[in-house]
Amino acid sequence: MFAKRLIVPSSHAQKPTCISSRSILRLALLGISVLPSSDSIFVPRRQFFQKALSMTSNRGIYFGGYQQPVHEQVLEKRSKADRNHVVVQVYAVSINPVDAKGVIGDKLATHWTRARRFAHNCMIKNTRVGFDFAGKVVESPYGHSQAEDLSEGTIVYGTMPPLQGSFAEYIRVPCHQLAKAPCSASIEEIACLPLVGLTAWQALSPCIKPEQSNVLVVGGSGGTGHVAIQMAKALGAKTVTTICSTRNVDFVKKCGATDVIDYQTEDDVIAALQRRVDEPFDIIFDTITSGDPNDAIYNYPQRIQQATNPPILTPEYFYQRLGGKWTDWIRAGLARPGIFPHSWLWSDPRERLFWIKFPKSSVALQELTKIVDSGQLRVHVQKIYPEMTVDTVQQAMDDLLSRRVQGKIAIRVIPQQQQ
Ligand SMILES: NC(=O)c1ccc[n+]([C@@H]2O[C@H](COP(=O)([O-])OP(=O)(O)OC[C@H]3O[C@@H](n4cnc5c(N)ncnc54)[C@H](OP(=O)(O)O)[C@@H]3O)[C@@H](O)[C@H]2O)c1
Repeated sequence: MFAKRLIVPSSHAQKPTCISSRSILRLALLGISVLPSSDSIFVPRRQFFQKALSMTSNRGIYFGGYQQPVHEQVLEKRSKADRNHVVVQVYAVSINPVDAKGVIGDKLATHWTRARRFAHNCMIKNTRVGFDFAGKVVESPYGHSQAEDLSEGTIVYGTMPPLQGSFAEYIRVPCHQLAKAPCSASIEEIACLPLVGLTAWQALSPCIKPEQSNVLVVGGSGGTGHVAIQMAKALGAKTVTTICSTRNVDFVKKCGATDVIDYQTEDDVIAALQRRVDEPFDIIFDTITSGDPNDAIYNYPQRIQQATNPPILTPEYFYQRLGGKWTDWIRAGLARPGIFPHSWLWSDPRERLFWIKFPKSSVALQELTKIVDSGQLRVHVQKIYPEMTVDTVQQAMDDLLSRRVQGKIAIRVIPQQQQ
């Protein structure tokens, strides 16, 4: 059952006698929140009732129907911890393109409108938004045991499983999908790290050879790109070259890029790479290519791999891209459990679509914590929305869909002073 949210108009808020304190208490007990819509002499009482309600209720942001805005729901009850799950009070969350693209993203072709509507309304509608979170463990199978990383009171970060959503005041998280948070970063920076950090770690750590690998990050200024540059450096890559627009050149250099190709001032990005690069690339991490025709127009995979005179790739290069056609997503999905050899799925095993894995990611998150605390990785948060509301979440989604965000966007779930 969902509790309704009753908004008392501000005109009423000026006249507290309209609703007696007894009736407010009765409404509160029924799980109906009474929140005057403007500051008034109700404020202390409002805080009291919000606090009383928050002991049992759980406010979250949920997907609407196909191409409809998100909405808020207040659940009357919160889930409990068990031996495999902890309950986390969420302090901050971050938004990713997968949230803004309604989770399905380019896994179904953009022009399959009916199939997309059907899939969205069957699977996504009314599920909670979000993957990334940072917050405090408030209920744990380990209680307050100081020996455990996930004991009550620990600041943690991680991801929620798909469609379970992190955009809520309290979330029940599988213990294998979170880790103790870095202590050298702000809560917003920590909330922005999980999905992009895991993507960079899972894609790059198996293939970078320290002091040998030359890495090309296509799109180095976005959420995944700026973390991938720092990760490649932290993993010991010899050089990290990236492609970005003029306004982001200094930013990617600060992230550690050894060479930058500005796609706005260069007439031909590929010719610029051929001219400027001393040693061919072993690893390409492409954050731009996707099944969305707006991204696909750049056609980086084909242009980079077909540049032959001189070639910009070593013969045994590895090209990983973060998006592609729906058929690529099927291949990547089949490859995930590791049953089918890659050579069966991809015609050229040197190029494939990477697909992040969330289960059992706590070990990788612990590695990310070490890298952050060693000073080798810092998430850049371009914007922090101070409150999690329908409007701020929708606005953050629109920001991301513009494809112009530098670094990441965070949203505070509770104000800093209540941490
Ligand atoms: N497969 C997976 O498991 C996985 C995991 C994570 C993310 N992804 C996908 O990866 C993509 C990137 O994610 P993100 O979080 O990095 O996105 P993002 O933060 O929204 O990326 C925005 C950045 O992209 C840059 N950009 C846009 N067009 C460009 C171009 N033609 N060349 C170079 N840079 C360009 C923009 O810089 P300028 O303003 O300088 O152009 C901007 O800084 C998304 O499609 C996401 O869904 C997939």
